[in-house]
Amino acid sequence: MRTQVAIIGAGPAGLLLSHLLRVEGIDSVVLERRSREYVEARIRAGVLEQITVQLLERVGVGERMRREGLVHDGFNMVFDQARFRIDLKRLTGGSSVMVYGQTEVTRDLVEAGLARDMPLVFEAEDVALHGLDGARPEVSYVHGGQPGLLECDFVAGCDGFHGVCRASIPPAALKLYERVYPFGWLGILADVPPADHELIYCSHERGFALASMRSAARSRYYLQCPIDERIEDWPDERFWQELELRLGEGFAASVTRGPSIEKSLAPLRSFVAEPMRWGRLFLAGDAAHIVPPTGAKGLNLAASDVHFLSEALAAYYRGGGMAGIEGYSGQALARVWKAERFSWWFTSLMHRFPDTDAFGRRIQQAEFDYLSRSHAAAASVAENYVGLPLE
Ligand code: FAD
Ligand code: PHB
Repeated sequence: MRTQVAIIGAGPAGLLLSHLLRVEGIDSVVLERRSREYVEARIRAGVLEQITVQLLERVGVGERMRREGLVHDGFNMVFDQARFRIDLKRLTGGSSVMVYGQTEVTRDLVEAGLARDMPLVFEAEDVALHGLDGARPEVSYVHGGQPGLLECDFVAGCDGFHGVCRASIPPAALKLYERVYPFGWLGILADVPPADHELIYCSHERGFALASMRSAARSRYYLQCPIDERIEDWPDERFWQELELRLGEGFAASVTRGPSIEKSLAPLRSFVAEPMRWGRLFLAGDAAHIVPPTGAKGLNLAASDVHFLSEALAAYYRGGGMAGIEGYSGQALARVWKAERFSWWFTSLMHRFPDTDAFGRRIQQAEFDYLSRSHAAAASVAENYVGLPLE
């Protein structure tokens, strides 16, 4: 089989890229290791920047999101018992975010892709990349027990943090930056109304808590906990109790308890691999970088990466030469590092670290107090949260 761009991975990065390329008249084939059911059931991010919303609309996949997504003009911050609201709309001069789960984004992209007869190969095993430093790369794989070979001009590595693409680059050609946080997020999903109509980011002596949602009837809550915690040690009752304790009196009274329909523990990591291109292989999304989820940036960075990449490829196929291709990594990384900074900063402000002593806690408290009183400080948070411009 021959295509112009072989895309490895059907997460948000790979799926959105295939749609963006289609709009430009560029052929691609998506190879995904997991089944369609598995990919569509994964519960991950929940907050979309306006840029991500616009990209989904540009490829004609925004209809259900517009109907079912929740537009949020602000969010709440709680520090011990003190609280205030970041008014995104006022502080940014009109921007907001869209609360619409990654699960739904993925479903919409897959459904539209299949309806448009886009080649999406699920359960492609043993994906291996060949000839990346030449002009005619190839991707071999096994599907339904049969070997397959994809000849292409370029490979887009959209296969997440544990994928095969980044690992196909000689280690000496990559510089890796990493920070692993000494805690994780225990998340639950429950069919109960959210505690508030907006998100609540909460810092408490006992650790961070986040109240999020998927709809007016489905809540998503997270608690900071030790990374080696066992999920079995967190029956629903214990989770609700701890959540209410951390949210404090004001919000605890608004929490509706109910049985969890999903419970999982996610590690927190900051990670960047530079550069994001090697020969004819591009990295995009989690394959190239990870942010801790505090700033809600992971999915949005995947979207902005593939926007830059689709523009570079479109310029190439219009006869514009290699300039766009060569500029992709630098352009994407400039935005990635700003999101890395914001996510690291927000994580540092809101979490309890093993070495947070009394001095450290007071510094966090002073920063929170400053944010709640300074227009400039709050505006900076708002500007980053709604997403920095694509430039
Ligand atoms: P992925 O979504 O990881 O997609 C990569 C795809 O490649 C997967 O479908 C995978 O099966 C496939 N693949 C992997 N290896 C191969 C291979 N060898 N061959 C073929 N296919 C392969 N972000 C937030 O903003 N908020 C959150 O709350 C949040 N929670 C998260 C929870 C978890 C457990 C994880 C892992 C991530 C979370 N993120 C969150 C981050 C966000 O979900 C990611 O940034 C986003 O999914 C990145 O999209 P992606 O397409 O780059 O990668
Ligand atoms: C989520 O709803 O899953 C979510 C929302 C905001 C975040 C992280 C996760 O910062």
